[in-house]
Amino acid sequence: MKVTKQELRELMKTKLNKAGLSEDHAEGVADVLAHADARGVHSHGAMRVEYYAERIAKGGINTSPIFTYEKTGPCSAIFDGDNGAGHVAANLAMDEAIKMAKENGIAVVGVRRISHSGALSYFVEKAAQANLIGISLCQSDPMVVPYGGAEPYYGTNPIAFAAPGNGEDHILFDMATTVQAWGKVLHARSKNEPISDTWAVDVNGEPTTDPFKVNALLPIAGPKGYVLMMMVDVLSGILLGLPFGNKVSSMYEDLTEYRNLGQLHIVINPEVFTGLRNFKQNITDTMVDLNNSKPAPGFKQVSYPGQRSAAREKENAVNGIDIVDAVYDYLISDVIHNNAYDNKNAFAK
Ligand code: NAI
Repeated sequence: MKVTKQELRELMKTKLNKAGLSEDHAEGVADVLAHADARGVHSHGAMRVEYYAERIAKGGINTSPIFTYEKTGPCSAIFDGDNGAGHVAANLAMDEAIKMAKENGIAVVGVRRISHSGALSYFVEKAAQANLIGISLCQSDPMVVPYGGAEPYYGTNPIAFAAPGNGEDHILFDMATTVQAWGKVLHARSKNEPISDTWAVDVNGEPTTDPFKVNALLPIAGPKGYVLMMMVDVLSGILLGLPFGNKVSSMYEDLTEYRNLGQLHIVINPEVFTGLRNFKQNITDTMVDLNNSKPAPGFKQVSYPGQRSAAREKENAVNGIDIVDAVYDYLISDVIHNNAYDNKNAFAK
């Protein structure tokens, strides 16, 4: 089913509002989700609405949070999300970080006590659009073995980065620190297909190709990915005085409980380093260099990070966004949720 971004946003907003979020917050969440779908990151778009709706309806997201913002130093602050919608809190915190980096050259803003905040590209892109470098990191529920381990300890802890080039172009990457998303394992299960032995391990910590034997995901690049996900947990969890490691709350275990997650935005103003004009020109030059560098066999061109998503976004703006029929049917229905997620831990199923 093809829909316009505007229609998708409206449908999601209405559903989240009916589930119990205020109109403002429903709109804020819908905007982040529509951004992900428009860029082709469907794992963090409309398909998440029913889960959020169930969590909202069951009290696991605060529908009338009191947000607080406290400046803790010349370039640092803490935004407390009071366990409201993570997308909304992380967005407001990024606005504050942008303001601070414009004034002071750099900003480090911790976002405490939030629920899931979706695709981090949304937040760092705002920084790039404001002529700043944006970095965002967040915790997620434990489903990854530490290198050499057999038990899940860290989450898929994503890292996002954006830097502005000339015009509207920017470099942007946004990636989980796992080889594959959990959704890919579920997809293989649904099709009864084997998975690559580089994705996940069984209960003994042995690599497995059987999606039904998966007990935990593997970090990207072995020990190097493991240390990156640790860094994310330190910066977005321990630094903010939040639960960390395997004490981070699970997405599906108890939908009546607040999640208390953490996120950290780091925003850097190129003006106080090499100067904005020079910086943007060099980012553009690096994009061009990469596009012009010799492709390996099987590749047409080397893309810079964010190039393909930006192209997809432009194409979708003209042709509409492809949404799975079942997700669309749910969005246009009167159903708030089908009780499909509570206590159905993704690992167990
Ligand atoms: P992915 O594997 O689809 O892409 C990762 C990055 O690699 C992209 O941003 C892209 O810039 C770059 N890339 C991929 N192919 C490329 C190519 N051929 N040339 C150049 N660059 C290329 O992303 P992943 O890891 O599946 O993450 C998806 C989303 O999940 C992200 O938006 C992330 O923020 C979100 N996420 C959110 C979590 C949360 O708790 N809020 C937890 C984990 C992930």
